[in-house]
Amino acid sequence: MSKTFILKIYRGIPGKQFWEEFELTLRPFLNVISALMEIQRCPINCKKEKVAPVIYESGCLEEVCGSCSMLINGRPRQACTALIEPLLKAAGSGVLTLAPLSKFPLIRDLHVHRQGMFENLKKVHAWIDAEDSYDRGFGPRISQNMQETMYALSTCMTCGCCSEACPQVNADSAFMGPAPISQVRLFNMHPVGKLQAEPRTHALMEEGGISECGNAQNCVAVCPKEIPLTESIAVMGREVTRQAMRDLFSLPDVDNR
Ligand code: SF4
Ligand code: SF4
Ligand code: FES
Repeated sequence: MSKTFILKIYRGIPGKQFWEEFELTLRPFLNVISALMEIQRCPINCKKEKVAPVIYESGCLEEVCGSCSMLINGRPRQACTALIEPLLKAAGSGVLTLAPLSKFPLIRDLHVHRQGMFENLKKVHAWIDAEDSYDRGFGPRISQNMQETMYALSTCMTCGCCSEACPQVNADSAFMGPAPISQVRLFNMHPVGKLQAEPRTHALMEEGGISECGNAQNCVAVCPKEIPLTESIAVMGREVTRQAMRDLFSLPDVDNR
C-alpha cells in the first residue's frame, strides 16, 4: 500500500481562517507546490468533503520569482523547493503544516499581498536610471571581489521571508525590513548607480529606515538566497552615519564602500 501524509493548511480569508487537512500520497521528490497542484485537481479534504481548491501564488518553480513564500512547518520559505519527504522526516511526523506569511495582508488561503515590499524598493530608488539604450561601450572595470558581492546581493527575489522572520517588522512599525537596505548597498556600489547614492542613503535615514533594525539577525538565517543581510545592514549603517556627518558639515563624498 502506498504511504500517505497529511497536508494541514491554514486557509480562508481575513478574519475567517481555519485549518483544513488533505491526505495525499507521498512520492519521492514531491514538493509543496506539486502537492498543492494535486489538491487543485482533486480538492477533497480528510472529511471527504469537496471543497474550494487552495489558493496560492507561484511562478518560476525554481526559487527565482519569490512568489511562493509561505510558512512551512512554521518557517518562512519557498514552497517550490520544499521537498515533503525530508521535511516530514525532520519533523518526525506524518503531518506538514502550511500557513500564509503573517506580516503581509492576506488575500486568501496561502496567497498574500507583497506590494508593500515593492513600495519600499521604490522608496529607496532600488534601480539604476538609464535614459536610453544608446551603446556607450564598456563601463568601468569592477573587481572580481566586488562582482561577487554584487552578484550575491542581486539574487534577492523580494520573497518576503526576511521580513516575515524579522521581529521589527510588525503592525506597529513602519520598518522597511532588511531586503531594501541590502538593495541600497547593491545599487550604491554600482559605478552608475552610485550617482544616486545620496538620495538612496537618505531614504534609509527616514522613518521606517535602518535605525529601526534591532539586530536580531533572524533575517539572515531564513533568506533562501543566503544573502548576507546583516553584513549589508552593517555596511549601510556606517554609510548612513557618514551621510549624516556630510549633511552636518557639508563634507565631500568619500567612496570607501
Ligand atoms: S537584523 Fe534583525 S531586526 Fe534587523 S532586519 Fe534582520 S531580523 Fe530584522
Ligand atoms: S533578502 Fe532574501 S529573504 Fe529577503 S526578500 Fe530577498 S531573497 Fe527573500
Ligand atoms: S515559484 Fe518562484 S520562487 Fe517558488
